[in-house]
Amino acid sequence: MKRIAVIGAGYVGLVAACCLAKSKFEVICIERDQDKINQLVKGIIPFYEEGLQELLVAGLESERLKFSQNFADCKGLEVLMVAVGTPSQVDGRVDLSQIYQVMRDIKHYDLRPKVLVMKSTVPPGLGEQLKKRFLANSECETAYVSNPEFLREGQAIKDWYFPDRIVLGGDFPKALELVESLFINISAPVVKMDVTSAEMVKYASNAFLATKISFINEIGNLCELVGADITPVAQAVGMDRRIGDQFLKAGLGYGGSCFPKDTRGLDFLSTLKGHTFNLLKAVIEVNTRQRILAVRKLCNSLGSLHGKKIGVLGLTFKPDTDDIRESPALEIIKFLLDEGAQVTAYDPMANISKLNSMDFNLCLNAMSAASGCHALVLATEWPEFINLDWGAVQKEMREPFLILDGRNSLNAQNMSVLGFQYVGMGKL
Ligand SMILES: NC(=O)c1ccc[n+]([C@@H]2O[C@H](COP(=O)([O-])OP(=O)(O)OC[C@H]3O[C@@H](n4cnc5c(N)ncnc54)[C@H](O)[C@@H]3O)[C@@H](O)[C@H]2O)c1
Repeated sequence: MKRIAVIGAGYVGLVAACCLAKSKFEVICIERDQDKINQLVKGIIPFYEEGLQELLVAGLESERLKFSQNFADCKGLEVLMVAVGTPSQVDGRVDLSQIYQVMRDIKHYDLRPKVLVMKSTVPPGLGEQLKKRFLANSECETAYVSNPEFLREGQAIKDWYFPDRIVLGGDFPKALELVESLFINISAPVVKMDVTSAEMVKYASNAFLATKISFINEIGNLCELVGADITPVAQAVGMDRRIGDQFLKAGLGYGGSCFPKDTRGLDFLSTLKGHTFNLLKAVIEVNTRQRILAVRKLCNSLGSLHGKKIGVLGLTFKPDTDDIRESPALEIIKFLLDEGAQVTAYDPMANISKLNSMDFNLCLNAMSAASGCHALVLATEWPEFINLDWGAVQKEMREPFLILDGRNSLNAQNMSVLGFQYVGMGKL
């Protein structure tokens, strides 16, 4: 029976720890945040992820899943999996302080696992540096394996059991086999390569998906100028199997904890290496501009936003998660507040403890967020918003009853019939 340490109980680490415990491995999850541990040992997950709570409770009951703040508890374990955060710095560079701290702790506690598995997204080339700096001494026989994570928040458990592929990067076939053996009952192609290439797969995948989003947003912006409608355009383009329909929806652009920081991180790395990644720069710029375009659409209908009451529906960066990191909704709210608007907002799930004191009114439901508003912005396409009693919402609002459908998720014709002034993204 393999004993595994997972470092970091965030979205990636906690999912990995719970799923590995379900696969009958003995797992200890090391988390530096004692408050998180206090919740986890009681069977409470510190963020929302469908199905994770049940897996956590099952893991605790089986006694195969344990939590600790103490790295010394990893001593003697075969596999150490790193899933700590790699956020962005202001200049776009990846903040690797959490990774370095883990590597220092591994050295300090003389842990010497057989394999160190890097699940965190790290810039291509970092693994080789970490190997030389922290693992290269004659006594340490730890093999380094890059195993980038591709899960989507909101579908993380499903993505663990049904990934499109498992990517493993490393020098030693035995170490790669050992890591492969952790993915029990998962029938996905395993693609093996060197460490730096595995690191690049993760960045290239996210950069490509971000490119698809910015591309369709640009086509949408052009649609507005020529009088076309992005919804049927994107639908028909996506039917081409060479293109595919995913990530091909015009709207407020991408957000979340991965695409923004990973595109910036790859752009920074390119510049550092002397390459100007023009395509990626444009993807990032289009994404930033998409939020501003949304605010401009509001100004086009309302004139000055000063003193206008604007409701925002949705704060998370997408539905089915509580994650508000780099959410388009929050960026738009900042713009609105800067323009002097009074903002009300509602989200069914957002982790509001992470909201830095922004000066807007957080409401308990969509109807109160809409009450008295000149305009409403649909920022996150939660099903409960799509299925709202829009007739009742309209009656709560005031002229010009503007609805900015930032996700093109509402029926424009129905909204007009109900008395709204409907504005979408990429359509007249
Ligand atoms: N969230 C996603 O959807 C997703 C998907 C794929 C890949 N990734 C990547 O996976 C990594 C983790 O992402 P996340 O969203 O789970 O991050 P997160 O910020 O939610 O979680 C990281 C956790 O690690 C803990 N931690 C940090 N340093 C530690 C240390 N020295 N010892 C113990 N615990 C420590 C933090 O307290 C936190 O709980 C990142 O590199 C990210 O880019 C994330």
